[in-house]
Amino acid sequence: MSRYKISNFEEYFKEYKKSIKDPKKFWDKIASENFTWYQEWDKVVDFNMAEAEIKWFTDAKVNITKNCIDRHLAKKGDKTAIIFEPNNPDEASQAITYNELHQRVSKMANVLLSQGIKKGDRVCIYLPMIPELAITTLACARIGAIHSVVFAGFSASAVASRINDSECKMVITSDGGYRGNKTIDLKGIIDEALINCPSVENVLVVNRINAAVQMKEGRDHWLAPLLEKASDNNTAEIMDAEDPLFILYTSGSTGKPKGMVHTTAGYMVYTAYTFQNVFNYEENDIFWCTADIGWITGHSYILYGPLLNGATTVIFEGVPSYPDFSRFWEVIEKHKVNQFYTAPTAIRSLAKESLDYIQKYPLSTLKVIGSVGEPINEEAWHWYNDHVGGKRCPVVDTWWQTETGGILISPIPFITPTKPTYATLPLPGIQAVLMDEKRNEIEDNQVVGSLCIKYPWPGIARTIWGDHQRYKDTYFSAFPGKYFSGDGALRDEVGYYRITGRVDDVVIVSGHNLGTAPIEDAINEHPAVAESAIVGFPHDIKGNALYGFVILKETGEKRDKENLAKEINQHISAHIGPIAKLDKIQFVSGLPKTRSGKIMRRILRKIAEGDYSNFGDTTTLLNPEIVEEIKNGKI
Ligand code: WTA
Repeated sequence: MSRYKISNFEEYFKEYKKSIKDPKKFWDKIASENFTWYQEWDKVVDFNMAEAEIKWFTDAKVNITKNCIDRHLAKKGDKTAIIFEPNNPDEASQAITYNELHQRVSKMANVLLSQGIKKGDRVCIYLPMIPELAITTLACARIGAIHSVVFAGFSASAVASRINDSECKMVITSDGGYRGNKTIDLKGIIDEALINCPSVENVLVVNRINAAVQMKEGRDHWLAPLLEKASDNNTAEIMDAEDPLFILYTSGSTGKPKGMVHTTAGYMVYTAYTFQNVFNYEENDIFWCTADIGWITGHSYILYGPLLNGATTVIFEGVPSYPDFSRFWEVIEKHKVNQFYTAPTAIRSLAKESLDYIQKYPLSTLKVIGSVGEPINEEAWHWYNDHVGGKRCPVVDTWWQTETGGILISPIPFITPTKPTYATLPLPGIQAVLMDEKRNEIEDNQVVGSLCIKYPWPGIARTIWGDHQRYKDTYFSAFPGKYFSGDGALRDEVGYYRITGRVDDVVIVSGHNLGTAPIEDAINEHPAVAESAIVGFPHDIKGNALYGFVILKETGEKRDKENLAKEINQHISAHIGPIAKLDKIQFVSGLPKTRSGKIMRRILRKIAEGDYSNFGDTTTLLNPEIVEEIKNGKI
């Protein structure tokens, strides 16, 4: 893969300027030098940002798995592609070579075909972090089926709504999963979800935990016997550059989750290129990203980015706290990990434990350490830099989103001087800008604004499944002609960006995007609840936690409040998943509203944070007296 031709910081600025002066030339070179194409493109990019129409590498033909696997076989067939590290350290880890991956993905692709899945069909994958998750995902891509991986922590109704939104024809799941000292009944969750999913014809089940699960005649099939019978000879489907590769759901600030659609060629070029350069990957390095493949970070930097580079990537099934808090460090040592990529939440939760857990391990193989998913606070940054990176590994604080496909703003290791809490500078090819409230581009530094990108990049999602209008409204309307990220940022005197957080109603809890609206919808379905409002508030470990203000119906008023609070959280767990549970629930008699009936979340946020200064003008409220009541009842 091409590397930036940058050997010092001044050269970064030169390369950056060149890349934005002629972006077509910049991306054309990268795309033509690094991949196997059946056919090259007519135009590098074709776009109309105002209409939210973006195409990259038009008319090119390609298959991403040819580039992830087949292309490497001649020289690297025996190289390890995937290291699987199980939840339980006593279970042996596995090394899957590129040859073996080729064989297993080909067989799986043939199983999908034999089950009637064809190009363009949607397949929902609901699996724990086991090799089959990677293999089934790649097998979809091989035959041109659109994968929709759903994080295996989502509840039955959350999975069902995702399956229905994109009308998946098949679900791939397992009999269960291990997570620390617990097992999770994934098949049971799917059975419950499928009661309301008419599009699903078949369910393939991986045996992971030997659970006695119900198999529905005619619908459910164990995967192993099907694989055994399948041929390992599979010709990859020829895909158009703009054919959808996958759908991945992300929370919106309103209503149902957004099925972000990523297409084939642009995503391939962008993830491959950013993986190589942001992590400074060198041949024979071992790369470990601790995310779940159910999130974009896992898609781009466990699976596609590393495999496109012929790298060795670790798939870790477990959690950082099991069997104890040294698990991450032990895995780094065991597999001689060179690049480690994790989330601030994980760093904060490990930093509060004794240093003994980490000091047992020299971690001397590490070269670059990365952070993603939420702002990293200064303390966590230093702990990461000092104790994990030994002050010798650059910390790449990478800013990006499900929608962006890959990293947009990040230091380039050994080139960009790092600065705690700053994601630093846009990568070459990325035209980041800050916008003020009047929708003007902010030219000055040392200011805060809405973070936008004013020119497309190959990895940008192309639409929301089934709702292009929503895609256009959400990302291209606030600042016409520009992609609006939904994040605010501060730019310092050298032009470094520091992400200040969401400016919409999405709260990032432990690195997971949670839209407040769907949680409110779930709470409001509880029979005792009349209305609710959720806001985020700062939390030492999780970054943010959720605070719910709940108005009860008369029937609810008579109930025991502690029990009700528990029930509300159970309700949220069942509708969305345990990650969306509220840390605090305050029962109130009203919510501050504007005269047009809109909840003033700004005020609720301040109350939840315990910041009673500067509520702003409350006289425009319909019910200003409620503010005092809520303040007095704060928990
Ligand atoms: C936040 C994860 C600060 C941000 C790849 C963004 C960050 C949202 C950073 C996307 C970072 C991600 N510093 N904030 N380095 N990286 N975010 O879609 O608010 O799960 O909009 O993608 O996470 O989350 P998503």
